[in-house]
Amino acid sequence: MLLEVEKISKSFGNKQLFKEISFRVNAGEIVQIYGKSGIGKSTLLNIICGLEKADSGKMVLNDELVFDVENKKYNEKSIRKNISLVFQEANLFNNKTVLENIIMAPLYHKLDTRENVINEAINLLKRLQIYDRKDIYPEKLSGGEKQRVAIARALILKPKIICFDEPTSALDYETSLEVIDLIKSISATKIAIILVTHDDKVASLLDSKRIDLSIKK
Ligand SMILES: Nc1ncnc2c1ncn2[C@@H]1O[C@H](COP(=O)(O)OP(=O)(O)O)[C@@H](O)[C@H]1O
Ligand SMILES: [Mg+2]
Repeated sequence: MLLEVEKISKSFGNKQLFKEISFRVNAGEIVQIYGKSGIGKSTLLNIICGLEKADSGKMVLNDELVFDVENKKYNEKSIRKNISLVFQEANLFNNKTVLENIIMAPLYHKLDTRENVINEAINLLKRLQIYDRKDIYPEKLSGGEKQRVAIARALILKPKIICFDEPTSALDYETSLEVIDLIKSISATKIAIILVTHDDKVASLLDSKRIDLSIKK
């Protein structure tokens, strides 16, 4: 088992978003977090990615306990190393080219030499069919291309899990289909996908396990 989420609960003030959510994710599996707007999908994804803390519960990643609220244990480093997040609106740096956006994090974290990082980025750009966009700035990209750059930026960190927060919400239907195909092809390389969506069409295309936050205990 790659990821075990156990009895995670979260409230903001006196408003409870979800209570004792548990699920498991295998390598290469796609899992959807589903439910209407405002229900807590992004919050749950942020907790999984270590950007927000749960009120209770624990999470085990690769047989390693990465957080356990009751016992005040947190290993954010292990979460960061293994789980990448692709934001809703791609969140690219507008003052950097496509290539610069992709190589920034691995260079900052000194994961490899500059030459190797650039070569890896070029391979990813080719694989994602945006190599011809390499030297342009994000404002010139279409919504689908922005998502591809965001996906390349996640893949270059070689995560075991990629989390997507509504990856198709800013895209037309045709482009959504392409991004969903791409996400499926990533899962075929054994990377697990946790994906937030409130779009029924997208949800049904994925044909995957679904965590429905609207089912209250
Ligand atoms: N940091 C925060 N502080 C207080 N309330 C928050 C915070 N983040 C989100 N919320 C509230 O929690 C609820 C769920 O938000 P969110 O997880 O973004 O939902 P979803 O992604 O399902 O639309 C919303 O009502 C939102 O306003
Ligand atoms: Mg959200």
